[in-house]
Amino acid sequence: MGFDRGDGGAEGSGGCREHSVRGARVLVFEDSRDACREAAARLVEIAREAIRERDKAVLGLATGKTPLGVYAALAQTHKEGLFSFRNVTTYNLDEYYPMSPRDPNSYRTFMHRHLFSQVDLAPNRAHVPDGTVPAAFADETGAAYDRWIEADGGLDAQLLGIGRNGHIGFNEPSETALEEALRSPTRLVELDVMTRHDAAADFGGLEQVPTRAVTMGMKSILGARSILVLAFGSNKAGAVANALQGHPTALVPASLLQTVSERVTWMLDPDSARGLDF
Ligand code: F6R
Repeated sequence: MGFDRGDGGAEGSGGCREHSVRGARVLVFEDSRDACREAAARLVEIAREAIRERDKAVLGLATGKTPLGVYAALAQTHKEGLFSFRNVTTYNLDEYYPMSPRDPNSYRTFMHRHLFSQVDLAPNRAHVPDGTVPAAFADETGAAYDRWIEADGGLDAQLLGIGRNGHIGFNEPSETALEEALRSPTRLVELDVMTRHDAAADFGGLEQVPTRAVTMGMKSILGARSILVLAFGSNKAGAVANALQGHPTALVPASLLQTVSERVTWMLDPDSARGLDF
């Protein structure tokens, strides 16, 4: 167990220090690669248990640089014959809009490259929000995405990264009232300027970055039975500190995780954890 003791926390498994911050578990790993391996091991453990209990597992997945090591470890676990994705269904957090699934910058392409093509996940169970629907129907399609998740029995686990501005998925900072933000559905959103700047290199310039995206809403994210949030590097330290130790507010979407903190595990490295006041 971890403690708010100001003494560096307790020794956790996998070479980390374990703390508790407002009810959330916070694991600080010396090396982000160990955090990724541990996150993959936890996802497999959660999936195995769900498959034992109800013959299937439903995992919420993220894209971006942060979880790359998680997907490498999941693919390795599969290749070694230690875990099959046959009974797994996945729901990704987001997709740029408009965006063809075949575009090299699409999140569908990212997931195909790093996970879907590496494991035995059925194509009709590997879901990524659709960046090709007409804009007038994007919210309707988003609502259907939430219904699919619900019909699958909800997310057993949700993997998250965090933006420098505190976004999760592409739920961007906003003035929305707390209660409304907590209930937000999967929908079409405008991307924050910081998010577009951070994606500029991938797209070959800011001008090329889409201004919109479809994102899973806070309702489905917060409904996950287990939430793993990964953040590495000093450029995430401010967002991590605000998310864990600021007031829950839609201005810092990751701070809304405090409302379900007993289900949340943060997996950090020393740089991303440096703004935390243990
Ligand atoms: C990606 C996503 C985003 C990223 C976040 C961090 O599906 O939902 O919230 O997790 O922007 O991105 P990286 O990991 O590239 O720093």
